[in-house]
Amino acid sequence: MGLDDLLKGVQTVAIICNQWGDTGKGKFSDYFASQWADVTARGTGGNNAGHTVVINRKEKIFHLIPTGITNDPNGKFTVLGNGMAIDLSVLSHELDELDADGITYNNLLISKDAHVIMPYHINRDKAKHQSQKKGGIGSTGRGIGPCYTDKIARRGIVIEDLFDRDRLSRKINEIRREYSEQKIYCDEIIDLLVPFAERIKYFVRDTVSEMHRFIKDGKKILLEGAQGLLLSIEHGTYPYVTSSDCSLNGTASGVGLSAKLIDLPLGIVKFPFMTRVGAGPFPTELGGRNSESYCAEEGHIKLDELKEYGIPHQTTEGGFRYNRNDPKIVDMVNSEDEFIQGIGIRLAAEEYGSTTGRPRRTGWTDGVAAKYSVGINGTHLVLTKPDSLSGAKEFKIAYSYKKGSKITDTFSRSEEFLRNVTPQYQSYQGYGDIKGVRSYNQLPSNLRQAISDFESFTGGNVVVVSVGSDREETVVR
Ligand code: IMO
Ligand code: MG
Repeated sequence: MGLDDLLKGVQTVAIICNQWGDTGKGKFSDYFASQWADVTARGTGGNNAGHTVVINRKEKIFHLIPTGITNDPNGKFTVLGNGMAIDLSVLSHELDELDADGITYNNLLISKDAHVIMPYHINRDKAKHQSQKKGGIGSTGRGIGPCYTDKIARRGIVIEDLFDRDRLSRKINEIRREYSEQKIYCDEIIDLLVPFAERIKYFVRDTVSEMHRFIKDGKKILLEGAQGLLLSIEHGTYPYVTSSDCSLNGTASGVGLSAKLIDLPLGIVKFPFMTRVGAGPFPTELGGRNSESYCAEEGHIKLDELKEYGIPHQTTEGGFRYNRNDPKIVDMVNSEDEFIQGIGIRLAAEEYGSTTGRPRRTGWTDGVAAKYSVGINGTHLVLTKPDSLSGAKEFKIAYSYKKGSKITDTFSRSEEFLRNVTPQYQSYQGYGDIKGVRSYNQLPSNLRQAISDFESFTGGNVVVVSVGSDREETVVR
C-alpha cells in the first residue's frame, strides 16, 4: 500500500500534530501538496512555525507560507487563512526567496481577515514572553501572543485595514494606549507597512468564500496544521501554549471550514520519543526539571552540544552535519543517566528548533497525553521518527500516571497535576535499523507490539509509520 491508497474517495485531508509541535508534519504536507492536493491552506499561527522545504535541491526553511507554494507553477492554490497571524516583512521575505528561485506564486490567496503582527507585538513578545529566565513561557518571540491578544480584545489590525490609511491610523492611535511601555509612532509604522501591503494587495481575498468554492468545485484540499494539540490555546497545557487553536477544529475554522468536512484528519505523533520546546510541564521528559532548565539556558544549541560531547561534525553551508548514529551518541541514548539519555536522543534525532535553533526537550512518548489528543483530533495516527532511535537497546511508552498513591490514565491540562505525576512505563526491547522497511509486517515485532499496545490504549488507529525523512521512507498499513 502507498500513501495514495489512503486517499481514495477523499476530498479533504488535514495534517495536524497531536503533541507539542515539530513532529515532522512537513514531510506529509509536502507529499500531499505535491502529489495530490489542488489547494493547500493554513489556518493557525504565523511565523512561529518552521518547516523545511527543498527547492532546486536547496533546503529552505519557511515559517509562514505553506510548503504547497512550490507547486504554484503547476496551477495549485496556496491559502493563508483567516485564523492566521501574519508578519508582513516575513511574508515579503519569503516571497523574495521564491523570486530568487524562480518559483511563481500567482495562485497565492491571503485572507483579508487574517491578523497583522505589528512591530509593537514583536517588541512586547520579546520583552515579556520569550525569555524563560525572565519568567516568560519561552515563546518564539515572533509577536504571536500579543497579536492574538489584540484580536481577542477586538482591537487587532487585519489585512484589510492596511488598504485604508485613515482607518489604520485611527486604530493604531487607539491601540497605542495598550502599549504604554513603548514609543509608538503611528506614521512611522504606516510608512513601514504600506510598501508590504502594496506588494500583497493582488493576493488578498475573502478566502473563506474561495474555500467554499473550492469545496463545491470538488477541488482536493490539504489543510496544513501548525504547532500541535498540546500547544493549543483551547486544549493545550495552558498557559504554556501558543495563542491559536491548532487542533483539527481550529485548523479547519482557521480557513473557514467545518471540521466535519475533513475526510481524512491525520494526527502526527512522534514515537517512541517526543519533544517540547519552550517552557511548561512535560511529564515524560528525560532528566525532568534539570532538562527543562538546561534547555532554557543559552549555550546548548546543536554546535555547543556536538562540541561538548565530542561528536565529530563538519560545517556546511546550511549548518552542521554529523553522523546521528555516532557510537558516542548511541552510548548516550543507552545511558543509565536519564539527563544524558535525553541529550543522546536529541542528538540522535537532531531535535533542534528550526525557528529558533533551541534544543528541544526530549522524553518517551506519552500515551496518556496521546489518548487525550485522539479524543479531540480523531483516531487516524501517523507515527514519525522511530528510525531515529535505531541504536536504543530499550524504549518505553507511558500508559498511566502515578500521583501520590493514585494511578490514573486520564490526562489533565493543569500544570499542578502534570508537574506532580510520575509516568508509569511499559518497556520494550529496541528494534534496530528500520529505514529500509516498506511494509508494516516487516517492522520488528517488538515495535509492532508497542504500536498495537499504543492503539489499544489510545483508541487510535495507526495508518502510517514514517521510517525516515525521505518520502519513500514511509510504511502505509
Ligand atoms: P511547528 O509548526 C513547536 C511553542 C513555543 C512556546 C509556545 C508559545 O514547527 O510545529 P509562541 O511564539 O507561539 O507564542 O510560543 O509555543 N511553539 C512551538 N513549538 N513547534 C512549533 O511550530 C511551535 N510554535 C510555537 O516554543 O513554547
Ligand atoms: Mg517545526
